[in-house]
Amino acid sequence: MEQQDREEVLILAIESSCDETAASVVRNGREVLSNVIFTQIDLHTRYGGVVPEIASRKHIEKINQVIEEALEQAGVPLEEITAVAVTYGPGLVGALLVGVSAAKAISFAARKPLIGVHHISGHISANYIEYPDLEPPFVCLVASGGHSHLVVVRDYGDYEIIGRTRDDAAGEAFDKVARAIGLGYPGGPKIDKISREGNPDAIPFPRAKVAESKYDFSFSGLKSAVLNYLNACRMKGEEICQADVAASFQKAVVDVLVEHSLHAVKEYGYDKFAIAGGVASNSSLREAFEKECGKRNIRFYHPAPVYCTDNAAMIGAAAYYEYRKGVRHGYDLNAVPNLKL
Ligand code: KG4
Ligand code: ZN
Repeated sequence: MEQQDREEVLILAIESSCDETAASVVRNGREVLSNVIFTQIDLHTRYGGVVPEIASRKHIEKINQVIEEALEQAGVPLEEITAVAVTYGPGLVGALLVGVSAAKAISFAARKPLIGVHHISGHISANYIEYPDLEPPFVCLVASGGHSHLVVVRDYGDYEIIGRTRDDAAGEAFDKVARAIGLGYPGGPKIDKISREGNPDAIPFPRAKVAESKYDFSFSGLKSAVLNYLNACRMKGEEICQADVAASFQKAVVDVLVEHSLHAVKEYGYDKFAIAGGVASNSSLREAFEKECGKRNIRFYHPAPVYCTDNAAMIGAAAYYEYRKGVRHGYDLNAVPNLKL
């Protein structure tokens, strides 16, 4: 172990689970030497959401270039890399397969160990990049386009999911509401921006609770309430104030995320709380947690926005701890679209 402690571990990480083609070189799990992200957002905007087939094709076009750039920017030749890591699930199967195939090819050709990483484990590990001193255990809220999980991080790579969404993920709700009020895709950042000009108390949207589980989330009722409100306005011929709807919707999401998360931190007796995933870059959510954690003497960890949305550096951070545990994957590693944490 002592020998391993002193060893420098350079991970080449690859991420292609949705609409970002990304590669990164990370030293010892915490230091990002390069973080290259090719985002396909513009390509999917005209369709109002991610088109899986287009995403896969674009990943194929871009992946080699993105990997080469990551090595170049890091100033690390492939021979000096310790291991190759890749997201193998969950995500879009065709998109994941591009990253997994590239990682396997590099691992085989360069004779480097291969490490498959869970996408959510990556999101959570983005906090290790931002906070070199952060160590488990802590509670983490993962809110992205596909997931809303409350997770107890017992140790590196050791997770207990204590709450999850029963229907839509938080990011999905942002995207759907944005589309309904005419803001377009991707909804999260657009709602975040326009909300600054709106009144969060203008419309009393519901704060949904799930009866049997105090940590689970449900956002479909809120989404329906927004749609009903918009329809009612249209029928009455009333004009809709986009900023007020956005701000009131955002407040309803933020209130629920904050309440459930801090309840969990208290009940589980931790004094550290982290956020992760695309929705974690929401400015109002960050402010609310900052304030509420401050009141309760809870240390609040939040990655920079670039490490909240999909990137490969977070995969490199998670992979480091897998590497240290001796996790190695074979060339039969496959994409698993519904991989469990
Ligand atoms: O983590 P991520 O990049 O991809 C997934 O793993 O899903 O998250 C993307 C999601 C999208 O739904 C997007 O609308 C949302 O995160 N998002 C935001 C913000 N930035 C991205 N939601 C609210 N506020 C933001 N500033
Ligand atoms: Zn993600």
